[in-house]
Amino acid sequence: MHYTLALASSGLLALASAQSVGKFNFTREAHPSLSTQRCTLSGGCTALQTSLVLEADQRALRSVANPDVLCYDSTGWNTALCPDPTTCAKNCAPDGVDYSKILSTNGSSITMKLKDGSPRVYLLSEDENKYQMFYLKGQEFTYDVNVADLPCGTNGALYFINMDEDGGMTPNSTNKAGPAYGTGYCDAQCPTYIRWIDGQANINSTRGSCCPEMDIWEANKIATAYTPHPCSTDDKYTCDSNIANDCGICDKGGCDWNSYKNGNTSFYGPNMTVDTNRPFTVVTQFLTSDNTTNGTLSEIRRLYIQDGVVIENSRVNIPGFKEYDSLSADYCVDEKRVFNATDDFTALGGFDGFSKSLDVGMVLSMSIWDDAGSYMLWLDGVFPVNAANSSAPGVARGTCGVDESIPANLEGVYDPAVTFSNIKFGDIGSTF
Ligand SMILES: *[C@@H]1O[C@H](CO)[C@@H](O)[C@H](O)[C@H]1NC(C)=O
Ligand SMILES: *[C@@H]1O[C@H](CO)[C@@H](O)[C@H](O)[C@H]1NC(C)=O
Ligand SMILES: *[C@@H]1O[C@H](CO)[C@@H](O)[C@H](O)[C@H]1NC(C)=O
Ligand SMILES: *[C@@H]1O[C@H](CO)[C@@H](O)[C@H](O)[C@H]1NC(C)=O
Ligand SMILES: *[C@@H]1O[C@H](CO)[C@@H](O)[C@H](O)[C@H]1NC(C)=O
Ligand SMILES: *[C@@H]1O[C@H](CO)[C@@H](O)[C@H](O)[C@H]1NC(C)=O
Ligand SMILES: *[C@@H]1O[C@H](CO)[C@@H](O)[C@H](O)[C@H]1NC(C)=O
Ligand SMILES: *[C@@H]1O[C@H](CO)[C@@H](O)[C@H](O)[C@H]1NC(C)=O
Ligand SMILES: *[C@@H]1O[C@H](CO)[C@@H](O)[C@H](O)[C@H]1NC(C)=O
Ligand SMILES: *[C@@H]1O[C@H](CO)[C@@H](O)[C@H](O)[C@H]1NC(C)=O
Repeated sequence: MHYTLALASSGLLALASAQSVGKFNFTREAHPSLSTQRCTLSGGCTALQTSLVLEADQRALRSVANPDVLCYDSTGWNTALCPDPTTCAKNCAPDGVDYSKILSTNGSSITMKLKDGSPRVYLLSEDENKYQMFYLKGQEFTYDVNVADLPCGTNGALYFINMDEDGGMTPNSTNKAGPAYGTGYCDAQCPTYIRWIDGQANINSTRGSCCPEMDIWEANKIATAYTPHPCSTDDKYTCDSNIANDCGICDKGGCDWNSYKNGNTSFYGPNMTVDTNRPFTVVTQFLTSDNTTNGTLSEIRRLYIQDGVVIENSRVNIPGFKEYDSLSADYCVDEKRVFNATDDFTALGGFDGFSKSLDVGMVLSMSIWDDAGSYMLWLDGVFPVNAANSSAPGVARGTCGVDESIPANLEGVYDPAVTFSNIKFGDIGSTF
């Protein structure tokens, strides 16, 4: 059963249970529309009236009885309202948000700024109570992006994760908020910071929300990477950090393609082959063993288009490493060998496992963020190949360094922003 938005339009609701639905202190939340297009080779492209929703954890969490009291603030959980997960679910609700303060949209275009709280949004289906599901095998996914205002240390991301279509609002769940409030997040880092998992407050951050993840785009104007992260389960999984290795079921590092790391330092960047001073189109193709949507995932290819010219992906240019120009099972094994990295990718499922996760269906997430801990050097600077071993030698993935990427510095100088537009998906060769 899906909670309907119509219920919320009165503005004030009395709710008995739940990771309840927002006791709005303002008006009903209006999801910003972001039109997208589904394309076929035979029929061309059809517009979908899809919309966006902000992540549940990025909302005020309020007392249902008294919305002026927060259940969670900078000091953590309100222990009076949240002594345990069940009581907390009864007492607290995520609030609606005013999107004009968070992001801007125009037709098929979305712009997000770091200073607006590093928003993370998901794509809702035309039925706003469900996420739009993507089945990427044998398909391609295309969009335009502007990274010109994303300096070192920032990341404008577009990626897919195995979130549930109903945001974890299963019949037995205490989650009554659902996709309309951005619930049910998971990713391959098995994040334990998530406040609500399966409709239960994650009070001591002991549980983590794991799932396979396809990073189509993690980028700023200096570097970009695309990266599948399989897990030993094909779908979403709630891990318990008190159990050894239970939150280690996903490949946190992934098998990445970064042109700079792969030996082409003049391919992606300001005034380079793909000129990041100006917008361009990004195409990602999920090829299968038999070229149908039923085959096993065999290759993930990347193309760029700028000024009407199709730009093929760069090729590997490293001694002892084949001249690959895309991600494949062989590339991933070779990449770990060449960079002396532990091959978690293959161990935790590899291409075959990831292929099954694509069958399950994925949800689209877009975000802008910075990372005070790592300065985003794993994306754009020198960083160890094994994330788990910080004393292992570093490999350069871009020209960024610690000083210029200190978020406190760059936020004073720049106004970091990312724009994604013209999202299209469908048959290989149908979107561009
Ligand atoms: C709710 O709105 C009222 C009136 O606009 C305001 O005074 C109050 O601070 C708001 N409460 C919260 C929790 O935002
Ligand atoms: C929105 O897009 C339309 C068509 O591309 C354009 O004419 C208009 O100026 C844009 N509006 C804003 C506020 O950017
Ligand atoms: C969910 O609810 C159904 C119907 O009440 C019940 O049969 C089933 O056992 C429940 N499942 C779980 C996991 O609690
Ligand atoms: C959280 O930790 C506190 C202190 O160790 C403990 O008393 C409490 O039971 C824990 N709560 C949950 C939900 O695990
Ligand atoms: C980098 O890529 C560009 C465009 O494909 C190509 O012209 C150039 O030769 C490549 N450089 C290296 C070092 O591979
Ligand atoms: C890129 O080219 C423009 C125009 O030729 C020039 O003004 C600018 O300094 C160049 N930027 C970089 C980072 O090379
Ligand atoms: C799949 O398509 C590629 C490129 O068009 C072609 O080279 C290959 O032979 C096809 N494979 C099968 C199994 O049809
Ligand atoms: C995929 O498999 C299903 C079920 O076997 C079949 O009905 C469908 O035609 C297949 N699709 C393609 C593109 O081969
Ligand atoms: C990998 O190890 C070999 C042998 O120890 C070494 O020569 C090479 O430089 C290492 N490669 C990287 C990228 O660290
Ligand atoms: C970490 O890397 C260092 C330097 O390459 C190496 O000596 C050490 O054995 C590695 N530790 C682990 C746990 O792999």
